[in-house]
Amino acid sequence: MTEGTILIVDDDPVVRDVLSDILSGITGYRTDVAIDGLDGIEKVKNNDYDIVFTDLTMPRLTGMDLLKEAKRINPGLPIVIITGFTTIDNAITAMKEGARDFITKPFKVDKVTSTAQRIIGEKKLLGKFAIKGNYEASIGRLNAELFKKLQEIALLQSTSTELDEIYDNREIYERIVEMASKLLMVHEVSFGIIESGSMRIKSAVGTTSEVIPLGGTLFEKVISQKKYSIASFGEVNPLSGIPLTSPFFSIPFVIHDEVFGILSLSNKSDGTAFTEDEIYLALTFAKKATLRIENNALYEVFYNNLINTLKALVTSIEARDSYTKQHSERVTSYALQIADVMNLSEEDKNSIQFGGYLHDIGKIGVRDTVLLKAGRLTKEEMAEIRLHPVIGDNIIKPIRFFPKERELILYHHERFDGTGYPAGLAGDRIPLCVRILTVADTYDAMTSSRPYRAAKTHAFAIEELKRCSNSQFDGEVVRAFLQTSVGRGEAYGNAAAG
Ligand SMILES: [Fe+2]
Repeated sequence: MTEGTILIVDDDPVVRDVLSDILSGITGYRTDVAIDGLDGIEKVKNNDYDIVFTDLTMPRLTGMDLLKEAKRINPGLPIVIITGFTTIDNAITAMKEGARDFITKPFKVDKVTSTAQRIIGEKKLLGKFAIKGNYEASIGRLNAELFKKLQEIALLQSTSTELDEIYDNREIYERIVEMASKLLMVHEVSFGIIESGSMRIKSAVGTTSEVIPLGGTLFEKVISQKKYSIASFGEVNPLSGIPLTSPFFSIPFVIHDEVFGILSLSNKSDGTAFTEDEIYLALTFAKKATLRIENNALYEVFYNNLINTLKALVTSIEARDSYTKQHSERVTSYALQIADVMNLSEEDKNSIQFGGYLHDIGKIGVRDTVLLKAGRLTKEEMAEIRLHPVIGDNIIKPIRFFPKERELILYHHERFDGTGYPAGLAGDRIPLCVRILTVADTYDAMTSSRPYRAAKTHAFAIEELKRCSNSQFDGEVVRAFLQTSVGRGEAYGNAAAG
């Protein structure tokens, strides 16, 4: 029994034969041929075809005229235009005139068959929704279905983009649950991480369990098979331990062939079962989220390695110069205290945390004879020391994700009045985090012993900071420093001590 008939219209007998051979290879379809446009129109009038493939350039009646006339006779008839590369503009015009698709010469077999199969598939889908004789209504239902699909794709796309912007895994777990609930319209969602025989729920809506023993639950099957499962009535909800009253959808998150977490979805808001489309949507979403988590983990490992390497570098510099031991650590701690008083953002504090530690990293490029010199520095030696912010900046520059840390390294010897180095920036043009670091750095330098002088007292250092407020230092930052525990002299036992 034939499923239907495809008409091929072309004035070239070879093309007719080849297309006929290719298309009749599609199971159940018969092919018919017409030798030109006029012959084609006659055949469309007298037969009920399922698809028409037509050439554009033909004697007597062109493919474009055939298209218009055939559309008038049978508006629902899918027509595919066959065109050479040079007439692609015509193909576009044909699409505007209602052609369903176009294929280019020379033919690619898979393009011909996939076009035919897609049209047949659409026709079948249409048939599924068809109410006999009510073509308009069928199209309406088909469009509604397509619209729903488009909405789902748009939602999936926007959630993917959103996930790409989250670098913190805790936040990702929360967003996964929130998005999955929205995407599948379910009331109960949970995401948990597998930990030796149990699952620790990281985020959930509509369900509260924190640690679930896995033994004997349906999650065990999901983990061993590394495949999603939809459990229904008769099985037990692994989160609550009570029998299910609605389908329970579990999706394993697999990284390096290991299930590390499970997303579970249940209690659909319309009470129905999960459709094929919804399953596909959820699995696509889960794949995307898994990738994001994996990337974050890789990033974290890389970031931590990098930080440890840079810290080791700073430690090696400080080991050369016994006077500066733990200088970077103290400066960072003082700067963070000032940042607290000044209510800086977490992001700024993170930059200070790391950049403060690295601010003198450029000293690795300064010779020992200069760095550790006990006597007065010559002009040349002074110039060499003054290079360390630029050397440090050159070390960090290739690592693109530390722009604020770079500022701390490059500008930590700038002065508020513009007389510092290397850029001679003044006032607000020096970033606030840098102005903070400068105060912390100078306080620690004054209160530490140097090869060429003994440590100054706390009281002396404070007086010096006050005296240089609004010249060397931002006065507001100095005032904030005076409110910190170190600025108040608490490290010395009492505020008045020096
Ligand atoms: Fe420095």
